[in-house]
Amino acid sequence: MADVKRCLITGASRGIGRAIALRLAAPEVQLLLHGRDTVALAQTCQLLAGCELKPIRLVHDLATMRGVDNMIAQAGHEPLDLLINNAGIAVVKPFAEITREEWIQTMGVNVTAPFFLIQHFAPRMRPGASIVNILSIAAKNAYADWSIYCASKFALDGLSAAIREELRPHGVRTLNIYPAATDTSIWSSVSGEWPRERMMSADDVAEAVAYAVSQPAAVALENITLTNASGSL
Ligand SMILES: NC(=O)c1ccc[n+]([C@@H]2O[C@H](COP(=O)([O-])OP(=O)(O)OC[C@H]3O[C@@H](n4cnc5c(N)ncnc54)[C@H](OP(=O)(O)O)[C@@H]3O)[C@@H](O)[C@H]2O)c1
Repeated sequence: MADVKRCLITGASRGIGRAIALRLAAPEVQLLLHGRDTVALAQTCQLLAGCELKPIRLVHDLATMRGVDNMIAQAGHEPLDLLINNAGIAVVKPFAEITREEWIQTMGVNVTAPFFLIQHFAPRMRPGASIVNILSIAAKNAYADWSIYCASKFALDGLSAAIREELRPHGVRTLNIYPAATDTSIWSSVSGEWPRERMMSADDVAEAVAYAVSQPAAVALENITLTNASGSL
C-alpha cells in the first residue's frame, strides 16, 4: 500500500466493501467511499474516525448511468492509485421468474458500472496503479437459481480479462478476487438455509485484497480465489 494515495471503493457502506475500507485505511491514503445508504456509509466513516484524511463520501445509485456519471463527476480529476469495484447485488431465483427490472438492475450494478468506472479512471492512472474487481466463484462456476448473478459475474470476468491486456503496457494492474460464500448482508435476501458459520468473513476477503495491492508495482497478483477450507456451501 506504500504507493496508494487515492483509493475509490464502491459499495463501502457495508459488507466486504466496508471491510476493505477499514483494512486499507492509512494516514496518507485518501479514501473515496461509495454507497447508497447514507447512514451505513456514515458508520463506515465513523469507524475510520482516527484517519488523518477524512474519507470523501460518494452517494450514488450505480444501477443507472446517471448515477455512474454523477459519481465520476464528484470523484474529480485527480488520478486514482486504486479503484475497487466491489458494489454488487445478488438476485437468486429460478431464471423463469427473473423480471426485466431485476435483469437491468443486476447488469447495471455488477457489469455496466464497473465497466464505465474502469473506462473513465484507468486512462488517468499511473504505472503501478491497480484496479481490483470483486467477482465471485460464480464468475467461474454455474449454480441453479443463480443465472443472472452468474451472467453478471461471468461478464465482468471476461471484460476485466480483456481490459487487463489493454492496460498491461501502461503498467496498470487488473487484480481479480473470486470469493466463495462470505458472511454479509447480501445473503439476507437469498431464500433458503445458508450456514453462515461455514462462510468466510468480509475481513478474510479484505485481507486478500490488501495482500494483492501490496505487491511491488512490477508484480501483478492477478487472480485470487478464496474459499472456506472445508469446501463450498
Ligand atoms: N457475500 C458473498 O458471499 C460474496 C461472495 C462472492 C462475491 N461477493 C461480491 O462481493 C461484493 C460485495 O458484496 P457483499 O457481500 O459485501 O454484499 P452487501 O453486504 O450486500 O453489500 C453490497 C454493497 O453494494 C452496494 N450496492 C448494492 N446495490 C447498489 C446500487 N444499486 N448502487 C450502488 N451501490 C449498490 C451496497 O450499497 P448500499 O447498501 O449503500 O445500497 C453495499 O455497499 C459484491 O460484488 C458481491 O457480488 C460476495
